[in-house]
Amino acid sequence: FENSTAASKAIALEIAALIKDKQSKNQNCVLGLATGSSPKGLYAELVKLHKEEGLSFKNVIAFNLDEYYPMEPDSINSYVRFMKELLFDQVDILPENYNIPDGTLAKDAISDYCNQYEAKIEALGGIDLQILGIGGNGHIGFNESGSLQNSKTRLVALDHITRVAAAGDFSGLSNTPRTAITLGVKKIMEAKKVILMAWGEGKSNIIKTSVEGTVTSQVPASFLQQHDNATFVLDQASASKLT
Ligand code: F6R
Repeated sequence: FENSTAASKAIALEIAALIKDKQSKNQNCVLGLATGSSPKGLYAELVKLHKEEGLSFKNVIAFNLDEYYPMEPDSINSYVRFMKELLFDQVDILPENYNIPDGTLAKDAISDYCNQYEAKIEALGGIDLQILGIGGNGHIGFNESGSLQNSKTRLVALDHITRVAAAGDFSGLSNTPRTAITLGVKKIMEAKKVILMAWGEGKSNIIKTSVEGTVTSQVPASFLQQHDNATFVLDQASASKLT
């Protein structure tokens, strides 16, 4: 796409069409959602479609990819807060229908919780559409370099590069969380459709590596080469190094 605004609009229309198609069949629409800067324009477009065109989210069940750990839901940097402010509180999704990994759990409760998070997705028939951003190291969710293709939802250590990218939000590296809970690569790969979005020149190298490079756990986004229905939605700058 010419720019991220046009790209975000197109993705929003695709999501709206999916939600409406599911509505017409009386089915739920299971969306996998991301945070970070990349989907902000998309969420603004979805809110606009809700407010101006009556798009309803009553049949949407959402699962977010990740949350920092530890993290209080009302903290300024929590992904719960991000999602509520940018999307969930602005549309008619039912509060019981959005799921974001819980950053307040005791450490010994995380593993069971992660299994339940996956079981809930499975009980709904899997994710219909998974939205992704991409980290500078090729992470998807917080599946950092080295994450295996069959990795499960789990507590992970964040890479230094990921923490540096987030340090501004936490006013310094020393305040930036070292761990997070992330949906595993396996559930992402099981989604019926995946859309990864990336904007700007800063993402151009990792986009080239992910799309044209070897499939490797060093670059988890490269696993998407093996997904049957994955699309990278790019602006001109992030696509500029593709051959
Ligand atoms: C966020 C997430 C991360 C981001 C990635 C890109 O939920 O899962 O993988 O998508 O770090 O972040 P931005 O969009 O801020 O460049």
